Amino acid sequence: QSSRDGFTSPFKNPDGVFAINARKGSKLVAIRRLARDQSKSSRQTAEVAGTAVGNVLGIKEDKTENPIAVEIDAKSDKIELTRADIELSRRKLPSYAAKSALLQLIRDNQIMVIIGETGSGKTTQLAQYIYEAGICAGGQLIGCTQPRRVAAISVAKRVALEMDAELGQEVGYAIRFEDETSEKTKIKFMTDGILLREALLDETLEKYGCIVIDEAHERSLNTDIVLGMLKRLLSRRRDLKVIITSATMNAAKFSKFFGSAPLFTIPGRTYPKKLIYSKSPVEDYVEAAVMQTVSIHVSTEIDSGDILIFMTGQEDIEATFDAIKERLAEVYSRNSSISTFNDIDNVEIFTIYSALPGDIQNRIFESLPSGKRKIVIATNIAETSLTIDGIRYVIDPGYAKMKIYNSRIGLDSLTVCPIARANADQRSGRASRTSPGTTYRLYPESTVEEDMFAQTIPEIQRTNLSNTVLLLKTLGIDDIMEFPFIDAPPLQTFLSSLYELFFIGALDASGKLTSLGVAMSRFPLQPSLSKILLIASQNGCSEEMLTIVSMLSVPQVFYRPKERMRESDLSRRRFFVAESDHLTLLNVYSQWKCNKYSHRWCNKYFLHYKSLQRAREIREQLKKIMAKNRIKLVSAGPDWSIIRKCICSGFAQQCAKRSGLSKYVHLKTGMDIQLHPTSALYGMGDLPSYIIYHELLMTKTEYACCVTAVDPFWLMEYGALLYDIKRVAYVNDSQRITQVDVQSGNLPQKEDELEHRLKRCIAE
Ligand code: CDP
Ligand code: MG
Repeated sequence: QSSRDGFTSPFKNPDGVFAINARKGSKLVAIRRLARDQSKSSRQTAEVAGTAVGNVLGIKEDKTENPIAVEIDAKSDKIELTRADIELSRRKLPSYAAKSALLQLIRDNQIMVIIGETGSGKTTQLAQYIYEAGICAGGQLIGCTQPRRVAAISVAKRVALEMDAELGQEVGYAIRFEDETSEKTKIKFMTDGILLREALLDETLEKYGCIVIDEAHERSLNTDIVLGMLKRLLSRRRDLKVIITSATMNAAKFSKFFGSAPLFTIPGRTYPKKLIYSKSPVEDYVEAAVMQTVSIHVSTEIDSGDILIFMTGQEDIEATFDAIKERLAEVYSRNSSISTFNDIDNVEIFTIYSALPGDIQNRIFESLPSGKRKIVIATNIAETSLTIDGIRYVIDPGYAKMKIYNSRIGLDSLTVCPIARANADQRSGRASRTSPGTTYRLYPESTVEEDMFAQTIPEIQRTNLSNTVLLLKTLGIDDIMEFPFIDAPPLQTFLSSLYELFFIGALDASGKLTSLGVAMSRFPLQPSLSKILLIASQNGCSEEMLTIVSMLSVPQVFYRPKERMRESDLSRRRFFVAESDHLTLLNVYSQWKCNKYSHRWCNKYFLHYKSLQRAREIREQLKKIMAKNRIKLVSAGPDWSIIRKCICSGFAQQCAKRSGLSKYVHLKTGMDIQLHPTSALYGMGDLPSYIIYHELLMTKTEYACCVTAVDPFWLMEYGALLYDIKRVAYVNDSQRITQVDVQSGNLPQKEDELEHRLKRCIAE
């Protein structure tokens, strides 16, 4: 019996739980949401309201003869749609109208570029069309790459639902450290990085019959490399089909790159956009966005649409989230008779950022019950990768966080930058996908013309390439300049990446991969982390280093809520190991393990359980890779001093020397650096003379994050290329060395010479 027949009148009981009466014996497939007018009959409201929410909590037998009451948890993440609902929503997508033309194109060509507005169904439909049409027969996989982990997972979930398949069976996904596929898998969503790593094992990607390179317009570093790799592969694999999908920007470039590959545009309609600019630049974009949101919410009818706010990252997003809640509470408490359309219970605020990939809630994609407004605060992931229906208002502060590499000083940093015009257009497009919408740009109109680039600079031209160079070398591409890049990276970036790899021992002076380099490439980690793991294994502490590396691969483990910051800081101190943040992380993990990986224990000590849990999973994955490559897992026992030395082996180039009481200078670049206030070393009486750091945070001050005190002799051992000993002081009688002064070596000369050799190796 379908849900349509099974319903009597649904109602919401006082604790927000929906209850409905269904006929006895009817199978509950979907719960229809009430329309505004609750007095209408359920059949009618069912049609008005559309999609379903909730899963069945419990079924109560009613004493009267046939109906039973079914309780639905309206807050549950789980949705159940009828097959008919799903089929209908698929058919409404613009790509459906173009289905037969698309399939013909795919049959006739080996490579093609498909363009469509976001939300037209490229990501969710293309792979399904190919599968249904049997183009990829013979047991070969259909692969679909995504630049972002969060998108890969969420799209796989959606497609599994549409195909009525269990996730991990016919439809699966793979991201770094996580593989949800099986032998049965036919459609595989993955990050572009995963496809690259698969190419290391099988250069010809034999198991794929068809590969969709999705979101190519994003020009992520890995997508660019995948495209170059496929270009080399196409002539060897005549049976392989490659489909590149792109939003409207950049598309022609891909066609040209693949020798005028056919372009196909999915027809779709766009609606007029209304743009409202700030009169002058805003001082605090979080504040401005919050004001704007609250003002929209109180002055418009709720059913006029949902609100999407773009923010740069987790911190901004959380601040915005809290501030909106606070401000709304204020507005409604100050004047309860305030004449607004809406009240505080009528909003639900969602956040999307890519901290932990599993975190994204399915509910973000559902429409809320009538009379409730959705406010979504997201990073630029919501620009094109994820489409949320029902957005009618967009708030765009005009910024995004970008990874920027300064090859001259060899520093990578995450920096908040103005977005490009193409991104601003995409953002405003999110408001007018299904009807006209409004975008509030928190910057003056003149900014668009005067201060914004037309397009974002592709990642390959603004990021550190050490990882990529190591990967290409492992793929046997010795002459990296010969690799077909859509846009070549700056020569200087190449050189400094080669230099970095040479410095940590992955390449020899002629640019060839060393055996250490080969071993490093087996790990899906940045080269310096692979190195410390390998060195630790040789020095009897890989058990501990495995934990440290895993902990460095997850977002912040310490939880610091605004209202309990002091308490949280005090709790954090419990775990401090005086000379090292790396060892502090090890300490946290070890204690968590002693407490049986308990969730409650984490809450008690202000630790993010999910981050720790993730670290544990990553640790398991890395452990498997170690076993496979016969890398010994050995524990140092209670003596942790050797661990610090091993950390130094991978990070000697990221070193700072104390200057004055609490300041440091970067040993290589001479730049002033401060310890981050969250460091275990911060506020210590006697600060160590030399530290290495894991990351630099560039704000008004340059902060070293996650630092470890190191011995100057270790620096000489692992950094002899960079550093010289300037002065050694002895205590006369015993001849014991008491003071060593390390300085940046005769660097320019050394680098020049090396540069010369590396350049030669590129030229050859
Ligand atoms: O890739 P493209 O931007 O062309 O569209 P898509 O991501 O395939 O989205 C097509 C439709 O599926 C949109 O209406 C999305 O809202 C919906 N969708 C969803 O409901 N849940 C997801 N996890 C992903 C997409
Ligand atoms: Mg898409």
